[in-house]
Amino acid sequence: MNSFPGYYDQKIIAAFLSLINTSRFAIAPDQPDRLVAEWNGLAIGDGSVRPTGKIGGIYVSARHQRLGIGRKLLQAIEAKSREDRLASLSLEATLPAVEFYVSLGFKRRKMVEHLLTITPLVSMCVVEMVKQL
Ligand SMILES: CC(C)(COP(=O)(O)OP(=O)(O)OC[C@H]1O[C@@H](n2cnc3c(N)ncnc32)[C@H](O)[C@@H]1OP(=O)(O)O)[C@@H](O)C(=O)NCCC(=O)NCCS
Repeated sequence: MNSFPGYYDQKIIAAFLSLINTSRFAIAPDQPDRLVAEWNGLAIGDGSVRPTGKIGGIYVSARHQRLGIGRKLLQAIEAKSREDRLASLSLEATLPAVEFYVSLGFKRRKMVEHLLTITPLVSMCVVEMVKQL
C-alpha cells in the first residue's frame, strides 16, 4: 500500500503508516472530537480537531479516496468549530494532501519538518496551513 507515490521514500512511508492504527476507528466516547466516516458499517475515513482548532489530520481509505468523503469530514469539523466559536483552523498537511486543503479554503503558511513519534526518530516534510472561519 502506498498512498504517497513519488513524494516520500519507503522508510518515511513505512514509519507514517505504522502510526495509523485502524483500531482507532472503533473509538468514540473517550474521543468526542474524532469523526468517523462509515459506509455499510465500515469505517472508511476519520478526522479530528482539538479544542484549539488544530486538526489532527483527515484520512480516507485508499479505496474510497476522491469520492468527496474527505470534504464531508472537513465540512463537519468546520461546522463543529464554528459552533464552538473558533476563529480559525490549522493543520500540518502531508505533501500530497496540500491541494485537498487548498480546494477547501486553507492557505499555505510554510513547510516544516514533522517528527514522527517512532523510534528511531523519522521526520517528514509537511506544510503548515490555516483557514479563517
Ligand atoms: C487527503 C485526503 C484526506 C482527501 O480525501 P478524499 O476523500 O480523497 O478527498 P475528496 O474526494 O473529498 O476531495 C475534495 C476535493 O479536494 C481536492 N483533491 C482531493 N484529492 C486531491 C489530490 N490528490 N490532488 C489534487 N486535488 C485533490 C479536489 O478538488 C477534490 O474535489 P474533486 O474530486 O471534485 O476535484 C485523502 O486523499 C487521504 O486520506 N490521503 C492520505 C492520508 C493523508 O495524507 N491525509 C492528510 C493528513 S494531513
